[in-house]
Amino acid sequence: MNILDFKSFKNTKKISMVTCYDFWSAQIIEESSIDCVLVGDSAAQVMHGYPSTIMADIDVMALHTAAVSRGLKTKFLIGDMPFLSVQKGLHYAMDCVEKLMKAGAHSVKIEGVVGHSEIIEAIVRSGVPVMGHLGLTPQSVYQMGGYKVQGRDDLSRELITTHAKQLEDLGCFSIVLECVPMDLATTITKNLAIPTIGIGAGPNTDGQVLVLHDLLGVTKGHRPKFLKNFLNGVSVLTESLNHFDSEVKNNTYPSDQESYQ
Ligand code: KIV
Repeated sequence: MNILDFKSFKNTKKISMVTCYDFWSAQIIEESSIDCVLVGDSAAQVMHGYPSTIMADIDVMALHTAAVSRGLKTKFLIGDMPFLSVQKGLHYAMDCVEKLMKAGAHSVKIEGVVGHSEIIEAIVRSGVPVMGHLGLTPQSVYQMGGYKVQGRDDLSRELITTHAKQLEDLGCFSIVLECVPMDLATTITKNLAIPTIGIGAGPNTDGQVLVLHDLLGVTKGHRPKFLKNFLNGVSVLTESLNHFDSEVKNNTYPSDQESYQ
């Protein structure tokens, strides 16, 4: 998939996107039919155990992006612009874009639009594709009072709808809609020429994204309603670890065949 496919997939084919943070899982995704890969700032939570995405700074994001990029050959790669990277002015934002692109990203994702529309426009004009992100924008979790569904009241619905159109007009090639009611996601999707990619936004967006570790069932803790485990990863992995442990302890691993003579 490349940037041109996003437009052509609209109304023809659904887009599948997963997050990825490291080399070995990137190699597995490369073997799959997944369309595109996001190095999300959820790396702060999934890979580093922080309670929010706020601790993923640009050096963390660039490091993960470079590792993922080395594991991919054909997939379109999106790098997340970290907390405050577009609020610190154009120069800082461009430095961050440069680090992500030089790490191997093909585009960047930016949360929200209020207060940084000119930055988004400048990044698009510089030749770097930008993916928008509306609804539940985790970098604003403390302003939102928690990880809550957005767009439940008229004002909030109107704002998300207006912001989606604004992002399209600014030149974004796609928009992530996170945790919004499905009727709102459906209307926004119908009104845009660019594809929407949903997470907790119902079935009518142009694509779906999940955190890789959530879909593989290797994360523990809070389970949002939209989450589906496509593998029970915790039990599969624990079983393998226990298998290794028991073979070590009963001296069946390594066997003669697994030893140098
Ligand atoms: O960081 C992330 O994982 C994301 C997805 C949830 C869209 O932004």
